[in-house]
Amino acid sequence: MSTRIYNELDLAYVKRVLDAGQDGRGEAIVEELEERFAAKVGARYAIAVNAGMSGLHIALAAAGVGPGVEAVVDPIVQFGGLAVMYNNGVPIFADVDPATHNMSPASLEERICERTKAVVVTHLWGLPAEMQDIRAIADRHGLVVVEDCAHALFAEHRGRKVGTWGHIGMFSFQAAKHLSTGQGGIVVTDDEALAKEMRAVAAFGAAPDRLAWVFRMAGVVAAVALAQLERAEGYVAEDRENAKLYQEAVAGCPWLVPQAEPPYSTHSHHCWAAAFYGESYGVDYEAFKRACREEGAQVSFGYTQRSWKEAQIVAAYEFPVFAEPVAYGKGCPTRCPLYGRELPYRKGYCPNAEALIPRLCVTALSTRRRDEVASGALGLLRAIKRMGW
Ligand SMILES: Cc1ncc(COP(=O)(O)O)c(C=O)c1O
Repeated sequence: MSTRIYNELDLAYVKRVLDAGQDGRGEAIVEELEERFAAKVGARYAIAVNAGMSGLHIALAAAGVGPGVEAVVDPIVQFGGLAVMYNNGVPIFADVDPATHNMSPASLEERICERTKAVVVTHLWGLPAEMQDIRAIADRHGLVVVEDCAHALFAEHRGRKVGTWGHIGMFSFQAAKHLSTGQGGIVVTDDEALAKEMRAVAAFGAAPDRLAWVFRMAGVVAAVALAQLERAEGYVAEDRENAKLYQEAVAGCPWLVPQAEPPYSTHSHHCWAAAFYGESYGVDYEAFKRACREEGAQVSFGYTQRSWKEAQIVAAYEFPVFAEPVAYGKGCPTRCPLYGRELPYRKGYCPNAEALIPRLCVTALSTRRRDEVASGALGLLRAIKRMGW
């Protein structure tokens, strides 16, 4: 990892919560985290939650996603699609730009119809999506934009931090992320009504007057988050530096093409990613994968979830949870009579994503120290050389 530190500072914050005893329940420290996090990313409001997925859940609830409602999501990761379905909505997958791996604004616009209420945009691997264009399209069609910033802490698009381009931004504090509390997350917004609505569905009181969940962050988790927030800019800076080692390893290799980084964006490098196009250079993909394994390149192929089987290297909409009516057992929400439409998911639905996903060569940076990254990057260089380059 970036050399992530947990020490007396974290313990001091945790002690503050525990010293407050039964009465405190950590609410004050959760509020302190919310204020400090909002200030760091330049948003007016923040609501701390127990997981990034809970953040997406309440964001889409506040956006009005529900039965019969569509929301456009990304096809390489499943998170936005699942969060739409948590709210009984229908996820509609937009295609990606093969160079940036992020949502294509043109494809987003194509997917919008009279039932669309929201779009969830992921800043994949830490590279900001084309937010200026996406926000303009969303505004033309009256959509709520939810940014999935789980990979992209402090990344910027055209001089502005991600999470503040959309109506709502979600950040994950899950174990592998830049800022980790083991599990946790936070949503930010400038919109008072959306903030109020997200707070209302994230927790209920003694006499609930509406349906709400138990998604609020615990005080001891907020304590660790506060300590980590003091160091998070340093972690991101370290991962940006470490990404250069992989970038240097592939420099001059025409068939391993790193994720494009437009000059107006700053990448946070939760991961480093490239795509394999060796066929046209006579490089066998299976031989290259083998060489990477043997040389210790520490990259995974297809998608980041290393433990997944080869057969599962597909676009998100090909996962059973989306493609088959298994989510709530009886076919809802995607086969819900309130929806009453044929789902568009099929092979070839997002051709760029389908072509890109099996070619992806990804390495996580924010869970590895510099010496580990350096050794992986060297392994990748050796693997490339073994292919005759
Ligand atoms: C892009 C993305 N979105 C959402 C999530 C969900 O976050 P969490 O694990 O905190 O629920 C994750 C990660 O783990 C993620 O990588």
